[in-house]
Amino acid sequence: MRIDVVSIFPEYLAPLELSLIGKARQDGLLDLRVHDLREFTTDRHRTVDDTPYGGGAGMVMKPEPWAQALTAVAAGRAERAEAAGQSEGAGDAGVPGAPDAAGSAGKPVLIVPSPAGERFTQATAHELAEEDQLVFACGRYEGIDERVLEWAADHFTVRPMSLGDYVLNGGEVAVLAMVEAIGRLLPGVVGNPESLVEESHSDGLLEYPVYTKPSSWRERDVPAVLLSGNHGKIAQWRRHEQYRRTAERRPDLLAEFDAGKLPRADRTAFADLGYDVVDGHLVRRPDA
Ligand code: ADE
Repeated sequence: MRIDVVSIFPEYLAPLELSLIGKARQDGLLDLRVHDLREFTTDRHRTVDDTPYGGGAGMVMKPEPWAQALTAVAAGRAERAEAAGQSEGAGDAGVPGAPDAAGSAGKPVLIVPSPAGERFTQATAHELAEEDQLVFACGRYEGIDERVLEWAADHFTVRPMSLGDYVLNGGEVAVLAMVEAIGRLLPGVVGNPESLVEESHSDGLLEYPVYTKPSSWRERDVPAVLLSGNHGKIAQWRRHEQYRRTAERRPDLLAEFDAGKLPRADRTAFADLGYDVVDGHLVRRPDA
């Protein structure tokens, strides 16, 4: 996968040289380039922002440096496609604009981190891990002139994206999070792919608690079932812990959970947590 990140603080992305993502880059699984937006300005002060039309606090990122930067990134893609013997915008069938193997219409995805974007979830991470190129445009100040996103739609599939309902100072921290969430799903990045299966959000629930040696620590014992060697019992305990945790910390996730095919013991576990199964959905009992 190729990832391009455009930012006025390229140093902010330095952590992407570390750990699993850094290793994936070294191993050639991920080609990640960071570009300084100011390199695409033409004035002496390398200006990237200006006051907002309509008034109000803060500054807005000027459109032209963004257009120059994104054009350069798109040109790099065209050059790589040509070197690989494909025409730009062509999918496997060689038809301009036809969906390629990744499913996008031959265009790279442009992700614009913003608290005003669609929510980035584990499902989004899986979807984006199928793409062959992602471009991240890190806004700062009050955001990027909206016309950039309209203009970019000719060259990119544009997706404003939010990490959650809070405001960061800019897109860089969000890019660190999104690149890590996406990058670890690429084949070969996580050594044991089994560890991607039983983790929070892989099945719409939070992960169960985990323990390691010693079995007794500061007068706290590891739950006995985990020492029993009974794999069926352990699996059931872990599932029920997922239900308990999710009900306690993220009841919103249970509304989406498919409870239609739950075994009786699991329905009982949910009943103990105050949830009944109605038409395949979990419904909290009013008295619970
Ligand atoms: N930029 C500022 N706040 C953000 C958020 N919550 N998610 C993604 N990008 C952001």
